[in-house]
Parts: sequence; C-alpha cells; structure tokens
Amino acid sequence: MKRIHLLLSCTCFLLSASASVRANIQREAAALVNWKVSLAGADGSLASWSLANSTSLCRWLHITCDRKAGHIIELDLRDASLDGTLDELDFSAFPHLKELRLVNNGLHGTIPTGIGNLTSLVRLEISSNPYLRGAIPHSIGQLKNLVLMQLTFLGLDGTLPEEVGNLTSLEDLQLNSVTLTGSIPVTMGMLVKLRSLDLSLNNLTGSIPLEIGNMTKLLHMDFSRNYLVGQLPNTISHLAELQFLVLSGNQFGGHIFPELGNSSFLNTIYVAKNNFSGLFPSSVCERGALRTISAGYNGFTGIQQAVQNCTTLVSVDFTANNIVAELRGCFGEHPESLALMAFSQNQLYGSLLTEQGEVFVCNVTYLTLLDLSDNALNGGLPECIGDMPYLTFMDLSRNSFSGVVSFSCQDSLNQLHLANNHFRGTFPLGLKKCKSLITLDLGGNHFSGTIPSWLSMSMPRLRFLLLSSNIFNGIIPHQILQFRQLQLLDLSKNRLTGPVPDDFTNFTGMIQEQEPIDIIYNYDDFDKEVIEIIWKNAGRVYNLWKGAVVGMDLSDNFLSQEIPNGLTTLLGLRYLNLSGNHLLGCIPNNIGNLVLLESLDLRQNQLSGGIPPSFAALMSISVLNLSYNGLSGRIPTGRQLQTLVDPSIYSHNLGLCGFPLEGCMNSSTPTRNEVGQVGDREALWLYCFVAAGFIFGFWLYWGMFLFYSETWRCPFHQYVDNMQGKATKKLYSCMSCFWSTVWC
Ligand SMILES: *[C@@H]1O[C@H](CO)[C@@H](O)[C@H](O)[C@H]1NC(C)=O
Ligand SMILES: *[C@@H]1O[C@H](CO)[C@@H](O)[C@H](O)[C@H]1NC(C)=O
Ligand SMILES: *[C@@H]1O[C@H](CO)[C@@H](O)[C@H](O)[C@H]1NC(C)=O
Ligand SMILES: *[C@@H]1O[C@H](CO)[C@@H](O)[C@H](O)[C@H]1NC(C)=O
Ligand SMILES: *[C@@H]1O[C@H](CO)[C@@H](O)[C@H](O)[C@H]1NC(C)=O
Ligand SMILES: *[C@@H]1O[C@H](CO)[C@@H](O)[C@H](O)[C@H]1NC(C)=O
Ligand SMILES: *[C@@H]1O[C@H](CO)[C@@H](O)[C@H](O)[C@H]1NC(C)=O
Ligand SMILES: *[C@@H]1O[C@H](CO)[C@@H](O)[C@H](O)[C@H]1NC(C)=O
Ligand SMILES: *[C@@H]1O[C@H](CO)[C@@H](O)[C@H](O)[C@H]1NC(C)=O
Ligand SMILES: *[C@@H]1O[C@H](CO)[C@@H](O)[C@H](O)[C@H]1NC(C)=O
Ligand SMILES: *[C@@H]1O[C@H](CO)[C@@H](O)[C@H](O)[C@H]1NC(C)=O
Ligand SMILES: *[C@@H]1O[C@H](CO)[C@@H](O)[C@H](O)[C@H]1NC(C)=O
Repeated sequence: MKRIHLLLSCTCFLLSASASVRANIQREAAALVNWKVSLAGADGSLASWSLANSTSLCRWLHITCDRKAGHIIELDLRDASLDGTLDELDFSAFPHLKELRLVNNGLHGTIPTGIGNLTSLVRLEISSNPYLRGAIPHSIGQLKNLVLMQLTFLGLDGTLPEEVGNLTSLEDLQLNSVTLTGSIPVTMGMLVKLRSLDLSLNNLTGSIPLEIGNMTKLLHMDFSRNYLVGQLPNTISHLAELQFLVLSGNQFGGHIFPELGNSSFLNTIYVAKNNFSGLFPSSVCERGALRTISAGYNGFTGIQQAVQNCTTLVSVDFTANNIVAELRGCFGEHPESLALMAFSQNQLYGSLLTEQGEVFVCNVTYLTLLDLSDNALNGGLPECIGDMPYLTFMDLSRNSFSGVVSFSCQDSLNQLHLANNHFRGTFPLGLKKCKSLITLDLGGNHFSGTIPSWLSMSMPRLRFLLLSSNIFNGIIPHQILQFRQLQLLDLSKNRLTGPVPDDFTNFTGMIQEQEPIDIIYNYDDFDKEVIEIIWKNAGRVYNLWKGAVVGMDLSDNFLSQEIPNGLTTLLGLRYLNLSGNHLLGCIPNNIGNLVLLESLDLRQNQLSGGIPPSFAALMSISVLNLSYNGLSGRIPTGRQLQTLVDPSIYSHNLGLCGFPLEGCMNSSTPTRNEVGQVGDREALWLYCFVAAGFIFGFWLYWGMFLFYSETWRCPFHQYVDNMQGKATKKLYSCMSCFWSTVWC
C-alpha cells in the first residue's frame, strides 16, 4: 500500500514536471513569435518561427536547445536581418538562456531593462547595430553568470552603469565603439576575474580609478581613443600578468612611473598621442618581455638607459617628443632585434657613424623602418645602409646630413626620403639598384648634374619623385615618359633647360584619378610618410597615406618652347605648376580637359595668344595665375572661373579683358579695348606673314647663290631644312595663336 502510494505520487510528480517543462517551452516559443511579429523586416531565416510548429521549437533556425530539458539555451542571430526593436521581446521567458548573439541586424530602439531577466546568461554579444541607442540598463548587473560581455559598434550615448561591478564572473569585457560617456565606474575594480578589458573608441572622461589595480588577472587593457585625463594610477603595477597596455589617443599626463614594468609579461605599450612627460622609465624592459613601445606625440624628454639595453624590443616609436639625446644612445647596446625605429621630430644629435668612423646602425639587421626625420643629425651616410636586407622605409629628411650619397639598395626598400639636408654630388648612382622604390624624395639638397635617363627603367614602381630645390641642370630626359605609375613629379627650382616632354601616353599614374595608396604598415598609428610640396601657393606637408595627390611641378627652371599638348591628356592632374620658365606660344586648346585640376600656375613665362575657351571647363580650379605673360583677348567665362576674383592673376599681359578685369565684360558689341585688340590681331597676322615671307625669300636667294658650290651643298641643305622647319613651326604657332585670339 505504502509502496503503491509512493509509486503514484512519483508518477504524479513526473507528469506534472513534464507538463511544466512543456509550458515553459510553449512560453519560449510564444515569446519569440510575438517578437518576430513586431519586427518590420525579419528575413527568411525566421520563417520557421511559428506557433503551428512550436513542438519542433528546437529545430527553429538560430536556436539551440538543451537536449535533455528541451528549453532554449542559445539564441544566435548573427547577420539575420531584423529591422525592428527589442521592445517586444519578453526576456523573462528565457530563464535558461546561456548565450545571446545579436550581430549586424539593423536593430534600432534601446536595450530594454528586461534583459536583466536573462539570469543564466554566460555570453552576451550585441554588436554592429549602430542604430541601437540609449544607455546600458542598470539591470545588466543581474547577469551574475556572465563571463563574456561584448557590446561593440552600437550608437549608445549613456554612461557605463556602476552595476557592471556586479558582474563578478566576467573574464572578457569588450565595450568599444559604443559611444559611452561619463567616467569609468570605480566598481570595475570588483571584476577580479577579468582578463581582457576594452573600452576603446568611446567618449569616456575623467581618470582611471585606483581600483583598476584590483583586476589582478588582467592581460589586455585598452582605453585608447577616449577623453581620459590625469596620471596613470600606480596601482596598475599590481597587474602582474599584464601583457598589452593600450592608452593611446587620450589626454593622460604626468610621468609614467617605474613600477609599470612590474609585470613579467608586459609585451606592448601604446601610449601615443597623450600628454605624458619626463623620462620614459627603464624598468619597462627589466622583465624581458617588452617588444613594442609606441610613445609618439607626447612630451617625453628622454628614454632611460635600460630601454636601450632592451634586447627583446622590436618596435620603438618616439615620434614628436622632446627627446634631446645622442642618436647612438637611442639604438642602445643590443639593437639586433629592432625592426621599427622611429624617432622623428625630436632633438636628436650626432651621426650614423661613430667617432671612430665605426658604423653601428647597420648592425640592426632586422630593421624595416627607420624614421629619424626632423632632428639635428649630421655627418655622412654609411654605405652599409644599402645592405640592410629588410629595410622598407627610411626617412632622414630635415636634418643636417651631408656628403655624397653612395649607398645602394636592397629590393626591400620602398620609401626613401633624404629631403632638406646638405647632400651634394651628382644624382646618386647607387640608387640604380632601388628597383622597388615607390617614393624618392631628394628635394632641398645640393645635388647637381643631370637627371639620369635610367630612372624610369630602374624604378618602374615609382609613384612620387621629388627632386626640387637642387641644382640639377640639362634637359628633362625623355625617358621620364616611361614611368607608368608616377603620380607626382616635382622638379621645381632647379636649372633644367630644353622643352617640357610631350608624349605622356604611358603616364597612367597621372592619366587616371588616383585612390589613396594602399601600402599600409600594420604598426599602430603609422601614418607618417610625408612629403613637402608647394600647391595652391603654399608650402604644405602632405601625408601620402591619407590622400591621392596627382601633380606636376616644373616651376622655376629654364624650360623653353611651347607647353606640350600632351599635358592635357593627364586627366588625373590636381595641380600643374609651370611658372617661372621661358615657355612660349599658346596655352594648349584642350586645357579644359583637366577637369580635376585645382591649381594651375603658368605665371612668368612668355606665353602669347588668347586664353582658350575650354578654360571655362576647368570646373575644379580654385587657384590660377597667368600673370606676367604676353596673353591677350577675352577671359573666358565659366562658373568656377567666376569665383577667381583677384585681378592680379591676369596682370602684366598684353591685353586681357573680361571678368575680373575691366573691359569687354558682358558686352556683345566690341568695346574700344576689343577693337584695339582686333587691330593687334591684324598686326600679328601681318607680322606672321612678313616673317614667313622673309624666311622663304632668304632661303630662295641664298639657295640660288650657293647651289653650285658642291662643298657647301650638304651643310646648306641641312641649314635650309632646319630653317624651313623652324619657320613652319613659327608660322604654325602664329596661326594657331591668331585663331585662338580670334576666338575671344
Ligand atoms: C517547422 O520547422 C521546420 C524546421 O525548421 C521546418 O522545416 C518547417 O517548414 C516548419 N513548418 C512550418 C509550418 O513552419
Ligand atoms: C523581468 O520580467 C518581469 C516580467 O516577467 C518584469 O516585470 C520585470 O520587470 C523584469 N525584470 C527586469 C529587471 O527587467
Ligand atoms: C562623442 O564625441 C564626439 C567627438 O567629440 C562627438 O561628435 C559625439 O557627438 C560624442 N558622442 C556622444 C554620444 O557623446
Ligand atoms: C550591485 O551593484 C550596486 C551598485 O554598484 C550595489 O549597490 C549592489 O549592492 C550590487 N548588488 C549585488 C547583489 O551585488
Ligand atoms: C581595491 O582597490 C582599492 C584601491 O586601490 C583598495 O583600497 C581596495 O582594498 C581594493 N579591494 C580589494 C578587494 O582588493
Ligand atoms: C614592483 O617591483 C619592485 C621590484 O621589482 C618592488 O619593489 C615593488 O614593490 C613592486 N611594486 C608593486 C606595486 O608591486
Ligand atoms: C600637458 O602637460 C603639461 C605639463 O607637462 C601642461 O602644462 C599642459 O597644460 C598639458 N596640456 C594639456 C592639454 O593637458
Ligand atoms: C646594459 O647592459 C650591460 C650588459 O649587457 C650592462 O653592463 C649595463 O649596465 C646595462 N646598462 C643599463 C643602463 O642597464
Ligand atoms: C657591428 O657588428 C660588427 C660585426 O658583426 C661588430 O664588429 C661591430 O663591433 C658592431 N658595431 C657596433 C657599433 O656594435
Ligand atoms: C610607352 O611604352 C611603350 C611600351 O613600353 C614604349 O614602346 C613607348 O616608347 C613608350 N612611350 C613613351 C613616350 O615613352
Ligand atoms: C608654383 O611654383 C612657384 C615656385 O616654386 C611658387 O612660388 C608658386 O606658389 C607655385 N604656384 C602654386 C599655385 O602653388
Ligand atoms: C599672381 O602672380 C603674381 C606674380 O607673381 C603675383 O604678384 C600675384 O599676387 C599672384 N596672384 C595671386 C592671386 O596669387
């Protein structure tokens, strides 16, 4: 009897238990279907979510059930298009849910308070839903079992609630790019199991709380790109397992205390773009794990000795600090492992050779990137630089280096900047081997002699060639036309003679509009490849990594003859500067093809004729100067040209009229000025014919006279051919000028 009773009650219990499980499952299904109905754009993958099908809930897409108990433990909606809000989702229906993933769903609205009912949740991932707004709800603190919380790339705008400190099981907290505001709550210190903390790319303010030192398991800490201030709390030294410390892009200040080096595992320190000062502590390397220091754009005044002794260091970047030091000290005693060395924009002195003439820099075998620009370094460059097998980037610009450049290159070298030093001698012959070069900047030195004809053959990948402000002479070699990728050619301020080359058919780098270049190094914030160019009348430091500049500057040379028509095929050009030469003849009729041209400078030449009507098509032009030439006729009208109101850009010509000058503006009957110009044109026409007639008569007369003298015949014919060629050319040029003037 007792036994039967027991059996009955047992069965009863089982039956009622299974009934309640079924009720739970029904509730889960109903909650999902209700939510689905509220969504505007649920995609096909939610088709199986239907009450008619609730018995097979565990086979619905995006859902994982607990095999035995039958309830939902995982809801994974990665990349499912939902287009709706979370408001109608009854979170309390999922007491067993362990994982929730909402990634890239087009969700809007806010994260509801009800999320706090997911009390079994272990992993929460809400990412790439940029229209999800509002704050992280306080109820988040109820998710006591959370191990991973990843809220990234959302459009939130609230503070990080202090209840986050209740999530004491958390090991991984990723809250980057969700636009958190306010300060870091001190309760964070309660997350003693946390191993990875990422609060980067938010709008956090205030300082790092002392309590951070309680997270003793932390390996990875990233607070980069916020508005955090103050000193680093020295409790960071309690983080004995710390490997990655990333604080770049804030406003932290003060000194970095020596105890930072207490972690035996410290591998990477990124503190660039802050306001730190003082000496960079030597202790950071003591434990022997440090590989990367990125400390640019601060106020550090020095690096202590032991950093130089750091045998594990691979990458050091102290760009733009106030370091006054001997260069050799920066390389340290054991530089063998160094790959990236950047100390640009400091006050380093000394030279790359030691007092004994001994070379040290070349012992840094694995060096790939050497940036020592903007310092006070001097002396010559050792030849062995050319043997460094991994060097891809070298910038020694804006120092006081001198002597002859005699080093050569390995295939690895892509970027070579030697601008604004005191180098001399002819174009360095060793560079003939630099066949991988993309940038070559030798501007602002005392290089002389001719521009070698082998350049384009030897450096087929070159995109940026800057030789300005040297004393190069001779002609621009026609082989320069064989560069296919060149997009910037700056030969300004030299002593070049002869014509501007004409046939640019192979110049695809300038024929097409260029995208920003894609050779990006993976080092943090490495965006420092800069060149100095003059465009729009101002010297500019141009960052090659950020934009696509296409331009040609041949100004301030002794170039002669006409502006070649071929230039008008370079449709990608954004600037063209031919000023300060001896160029003759007309402005090419097709100049208006250059629709991307923003800056055109032809001043101080001997150009004649009219401004071609196609000028009106220069729809990007914002800087123009045609002054000090022999131009005449009407200035074309074009919408963009009308914005150039400074009359000085047309001044000192033969007779230009039209906006912004006085004269023929808006007038259909010729003004007195124009009538005068018609007279000028007739005189010009007459002059052309008289000149042609004279040359022709001269040839006939002397031809008759000398025809019988055998000894003279050959040179005479050559002379005649020559004269005839010149005369025809002049005549042609006169006529084309005449016609273009008539166009005005
Ligand atoms: C029920 O769900 C299964 C599995 O997802 C699916 O194959 C089936 O088409 C669904 N039936 C209905 C009526 O939605
Ligand atoms: C949990 O769900 C219940 C409804 O079942 C709701 O009343 C309550 O507000 C929810 N709790 C939280 C913290 O949102
Ligand atoms: C975050 O800061 C940026 C830049 O200062 C600002 O444009 C943005 O509106 C801020 N967002 C929030 C949510 O405060
Ligand atoms: C949760 O956090 C709040 C605020 O930090 C705190 O007052 C409360 O005691 C915590 N609750 C629990 C259960 O730990
Ligand atoms: C947490 O950090 C604070 C400040 O550093 C300290 O006073 C406190 O004792 C720490 N708490 C624990 C539990 O370690
Ligand atoms: C850091 O290490 C030094 C010795 O290496 C030790 O004296 C000091 O107590 C440590 N500091 C902390 C805060 O652990
Ligand atoms: C940077 O630090 C210096 C002191 O080293 C201080 O005078 C200056 O005001 C700080 N600048 C900012 C923007 O915090
Ligand atoms: C650098 O290392 C050498 C031995 O390799 C040692 O004698 C010297 O004291 C170290 N210098 C510093 C400043 O630690
Ligand atoms: C560079 O290396 C060579 C041989 O590898 C060595 O003899 C020389 O002393 C080193 N120079 C410096 C300055 O370390
Ligand atoms: C353009 O390239 C072709 C093929 O390499 C070559 O034959 C031709 O001479 C080049 N033209 C100019 C103007 O350099
Ligand atoms: C053209 O070059 C000259 C000389 O280098 C310079 O003075 C002028 O500003 C440049 N023109 C433009 C528009 O940049
Ligand atoms: C154009 O060039 C002339 C001659 O160099 C100069 O005087 C004038 O200021 C320039 N105009 C503009 C707008 O740059």
